[in-house]
Amino acid sequence: MSIRRTIIASAFLMLTMNTVICAQTAEVLADGIVRFDASLDAQINRRPSIAMVRQFESISDIDPASHALAPTFSTNDDGRFVAAIKIEPGTSLYGTGQVAGPLLRNGFVTETWNYDAFGYGLDAKNLYTSQPWVLAVREDGTAFGVLADTTERCEIDLRHGITFRAVGHSFPVIIIDRATPQLVMQGLAELTGTIAMPPRWAVGFHQCRYSYNPDSRVKEIADGFRSRSLPADVIWMDIDYMDQYRVFTFDDVQFPNPKELNAYLDSVGFSNVWMIDPGVKAEEGYFIYDSGTEHDAWTKKTDGTVFNGEVWPGVCVFPDYLNKDVRTWWAGLYKDFMSYDIDGVWNDMNEPAVFNSKTKTMPEDNIHDADPELGGPGTHARYHNVYGMQMIRATREGVIAANPNKRPFVLSRANYLGGHRYGATWTGDNSATWGHLDMSIPMSINLGLSGQPFVGPDIGGFAYNGDGELYARWMGFGTLFPFSRSHTAKGNIDKEPWSFTPEIEATCRRALERRYRLMPYIYTLFHESSQSGALIAMPTFFADPTDPALRSEDDSFLLGESLLVSAKVTPDSDRAAVLPKPIDGVAWAKFDFESFDGGRDSKDSDLPDLYIRPGSIIVTCPVTQYFGDRPDQRDEITLIVHLDGNGEAIGTLYEDAGDGMEYMMGEYLLTTFKASRDGEKVTVEVIEQEGKMTPPTRKITVRVVND
Ligand code: NOJ
Repeated sequence: MSIRRTIIASAFLMLTMNTVICAQTAEVLADGIVRFDASLDAQINRRPSIAMVRQFESISDIDPASHALAPTFSTNDDGRFVAAIKIEPGTSLYGTGQVAGPLLRNGFVTETWNYDAFGYGLDAKNLYTSQPWVLAVREDGTAFGVLADTTERCEIDLRHGITFRAVGHSFPVIIIDRATPQLVMQGLAELTGTIAMPPRWAVGFHQCRYSYNPDSRVKEIADGFRSRSLPADVIWMDIDYMDQYRVFTFDDVQFPNPKELNAYLDSVGFSNVWMIDPGVKAEEGYFIYDSGTEHDAWTKKTDGTVFNGEVWPGVCVFPDYLNKDVRTWWAGLYKDFMSYDIDGVWNDMNEPAVFNSKTKTMPEDNIHDADPELGGPGTHARYHNVYGMQMIRATREGVIAANPNKRPFVLSRANYLGGHRYGATWTGDNSATWGHLDMSIPMSINLGLSGQPFVGPDIGGFAYNGDGELYARWMGFGTLFPFSRSHTAKGNIDKEPWSFTPEIEATCRRALERRYRLMPYIYTLFHESSQSGALIAMPTFFADPTDPALRSEDDSFLLGESLLVSAKVTPDSDRAAVLPKPIDGVAWAKFDFESFDGGRDSKDSDLPDLYIRPGSIIVTCPVTQYFGDRPDQRDEITLIVHLDGNGEAIGTLYEDAGDGMEYMMGEYLLTTFKASRDGEKVTVEVIEQEGKMTPPTRKITVRVVND
């Protein structure tokens, strides 16, 4: 009997309560990627995938029983649809989205349900973003990933193997089975897409607080960075710039001339990001409300009337971003907004958060008029987890339409698997405590392992004050996260690098200078991620997935494959980092920037230790204060070289204009350097160069570590 006929015959094996059946259909979607459904009926009635870049068709059908990881399916007494995958002993589990606690997730139960979780703790079951995805690394270092392709509230239970329990409709399970965890993550990117190359300023350091107001305070902060030679690229405008928290307005007393403010910031080398929330004040005469009402843009209750809920401005209505016409209307609002020379947009509160509701969000039976491609009209329960994702999708479209020649930058609090295509994510309202400092590494890394590479926490902690020591430590490694931003809540003490003591300011300067020295390397990592889905920050065990000693290391992480960042996450931390094993007898080498053009970085115990992988070249540059502060920042680079057992090392450098879309037409330069030892001499040569950009004439310094 052909496989197709086997499948058809088994279509009659329908799920009844508590019966457990093996997957009945299995479709190959790509190399090593198979999608399983519980029955032919489930396959035919499958909902469109919102996580994936497109609806993947089967390349070929296989017998599910022939696949070692084929899931079983069942329905629980409570009506939840359950998919379970067995794991071998010694398998380490990661991912599951934004989660509190350690990196290694074996034994944890979490849930996908975007939630406004101010001041969350270790016991948080669900946080701001939802990624129904698990990365599993077997004892031998081979790996597989499991995607439960559902937007519904879904429990991820990692106590006995991998179990997903989702409310509502049946869902398919997609398994990516590949030789290494890196290749599994690449497989996830084949399904869900990659980040777009951000503007270079967004890869710099960001300074934020709730809120810098009035505009003179914003200027003071910008000047504070410049007068103290503290490198930074971006200042953020939180909600107090608005007129009574009405989105797309400006307070005419505190921010009377946003364009002039942005021009000032630009003149001192700062880009700007301004906040826009989804809640629109329900007030006739307010142009956004009137226009949205005219476009029938608001999410409705079951009885067809408009849903009202309270957020910052009082009673609000909420755009139904699941609908294409509403997204087009929303995107159109950015045309005027961006004309104030706004560089980037921050979409917050988009779970959506609702204050006057026990659940802190809108009723689950509200109705979204979702596009047929997203699955058609349905309840808020079904679309809750993708509400924020569809909001930033629309925002991004609007930002691009307003400035087609610039690269968009959007930051979102709520998101869903695949939402990295539209914006970066931060880890929401953490707290200024050592516990949160500690947790910020595994949380950011697990988000990366869940498909969101452009991520980082509120450095310094959002809730509460904390002290200078905590701030210094957090800045020490926070400046090495892909998204690097300091932020704090209203009413807290000042939290700028200079707000504590001269010593703490000096530590912050060293930490910032490290990021800016490493900028060529970090920007190259963003390029690689935009191409292949490679992670920017990744767990230490990626250096050697076969080494069990690294599997739960989470006070260190890798920034790219070549640089290990070993942070000190407790007040008196002197824990020695567990390093990856030597490669061919050559150890990872500790280095700092001390001997670099007057670098001041060594012997600061608040900074993380840095190690370079044998066989790598890390491309660095002199400290700049911001992107573009010298006429040609490309005229000088330093290669940090750590030779492997064969006396060789390789590294790449990606360069482009830093903004604009010309890079997509080949206006970039991708250079591969190779260093080789020849007796006492180390020679560096360019072994490959790609792209149309003219190679600059520049001074290249080579520094061989541990030599
Ligand atoms: C909640 C966000 O998580 C926080 O970062 C922001 O400062 C406040 N909303 C005020 O807009």
